Amino acid sequence: PSIVVLASGSGTNLQALIDASRERDYPGEIIAVGCNKPDAFALERAAQANIPTFVVNHKNHGSREEFDGALMAELRRYNPDLIVLAGFMRILTSDFVHAFRGKMLNIHPSLLPAYTGLNTHQRVLEAGDRVHGVSVHFVTEELDGGPVIAQAEVPVHAGDTADSLAERVQEQEHLLYPIVVRWFCEGRIQLGSDHVLFDGQPL
Ligand code: GRF
Repeated sequence: PSIVVLASGSGTNLQALIDASRERDYPGEIIAVGCNKPDAFALERAAQANIPTFVVNHKNHGSREEFDGALMAELRRYNPDLIVLAGFMRILTSDFVHAFRGKMLNIHPSLLPAYTGLNTHQRVLEAGDRVHGVSVHFVTEELDGGPVIAQAEVPVHAGDTADSLAERVQEQEHLLYPIVVRWFCEGRIQLGSDHVLFDGQPL
């Protein structure tokens, strides 16, 4: 299966996926990396790995619809089996999400449904939670609200800062995302009407 990764930032998750996809028996191939920011370090990581890149700069598009239209046009060129959002910091229109229903994954740094949105690590600290983590989910219209496929937990330690916590969570992100993408590529996970099917069984 072919994969397009969309990113906005440093691209450490992209790197984990690139590294995994180079393993001999990995079932998926990253055929392109797209960014909404022309200076995203993710673009350099892709170039280093000889993966084609494209930029759809949100600043050059007046509306979300226009931006999504341009992004859609790029994606149609590659026609991937799977779109992997890896730190892609744009909210997508419902038309866009519908067009790729069941074919788009996102990684979010919290144990969903807790802490959708931004600044999750800080909010976990402020709430005094003892456990935090990361979720991989199918993308649906609801922001960070699509059915969860897999999660990994990390402990919150006394004295943690948002940064130390982020680092602990990211370590898990880099392990979890390549595994879930592998499952998708092996045809093991599917989006049902409103839930995930794993090997044909509801999760
Ligand atoms: C990750 O924490 C991911 O969970 C969130 O954005 C961050 C992206 O980091 N959605 P990176 O660009 O992969 O390093």
